[in-house]
Amino acid sequence: MIAQTDLAGTFTLPDTSMTVNRMGYGAMQLAGRDGDKLVWGPPRDLDGAIALLREVIASGVNHIDTADFYGPHVTNQIIRKALSPYPKDLVIVTKVSARRGDDGSWIPAFSPEELTAAVHDNLRNLGVDALDVVNLRSMFSIHEPAEGSIEPQITALAELRQKGLIRHIGLSNVSPTQIKEARRIVPIVCVQNHYNVAHRTEDALIDDLAHDGIAYVPFFPLGGFTPLQSGALSEVAVRLGATPMQVALAWLLHRSPNILVIPGTSSIEHLRENLQASKLQLPAEVIADLDGIAARPGN
Ligand SMILES: NC(=O)c1ccc[n+]([C@@H]2O[C@H](COP(=O)([O-])OP(=O)(O)OC[C@H]3O[C@@H](n4cnc5c(N)ncnc54)[C@H](OP(=O)(O)O)[C@@H]3O)[C@@H](O)[C@H]2O)c1
Repeated sequence: MIAQTDLAGTFTLPDTSMTVNRMGYGAMQLAGRDGDKLVWGPPRDLDGAIALLREVIASGVNHIDTADFYGPHVTNQIIRKALSPYPKDLVIVTKVSARRGDDGSWIPAFSPEELTAAVHDNLRNLGVDALDVVNLRSMFSIHEPAEGSIEPQITALAELRQKGLIRHIGLSNVSPTQIKEARRIVPIVCVQNHYNVAHRTEDALIDDLAHDGIAYVPFFPLGGFTPLQSGALSEVAVRLGATPMQVALAWLLHRSPNILVIPGTSSIEHLRENLQASKLQLPAEVIADLDGIAARPGN
């Protein structure tokens, strides 16, 4: 393994002492699967998952994204087993507001009481006294941002922050209106919504957040459970001697300096491949071709 010296530069979360490399790691894929139940139960190869997380850290990554409802509990327990005591510079970002049904479903757990319980679950399973960053994931609609006041939920998290159980607060699956509402109550350091080279409904939001120094951390950077497939992406990858996934990540890193990437993988080979994306330079004509992907039907 080659230690990475430049993981696409760094970003400091606003008004914090937390500086992370822009190339991070998303831990959701570490949990197992049981038939149709995704992100469910232990991984097939626990030792492999632990080795992968240790390689994440050895490679210089210092930003891991997780949730206690992955598994449920499994992903956080693996992170603790692999990495505790944690490196001083590691920032673990978790999210709250869902629980899992016995059938593997994702059920809103969005009341202040449920959010408080979820924070305690995260503290216990990660084995920490305080959580670095907690994202409130809005659940008015499970799959995309939907309007509705998040004031009671943000107020509950702000109180837990006052008590010292949370260091900083972020948001996920939210609209610009909800971001504004939350920022009136507490500082927001990051926003995690669905975005990638082929799914670009949030371009204006990213620019607004960049202006305010807030990190934008796209989920599904590689397309999620069905990784991106695009003729244009593959063609560019061949031209650059890279892989389509490396190009998709490099495009995100190029898109805006406030974008932090958290590609998810359960494979050490894919991890190594993804980390190399931080070194990939995209010439202007390539950017133009990639910018067309979201607009081109069939790509
Ligand atoms: N806030 C939210 O609502 C939300 C929702 C979803 C995810 N997230 C967070 O975002 C992180 C990233 O999202 P994600 O993991 O769902 O999706 P993703 O990073 O877009 O893609 C993960 C998928 O791509 C595959 N993959 C990864 N690297 C690859 C490579 N080099 N070549 C080929 N396939 C590759 C993975 O399979 P392998 O395991 O085989 O590599 C997996 O199927 C998650 O870990 C989670 O922390 C947040």
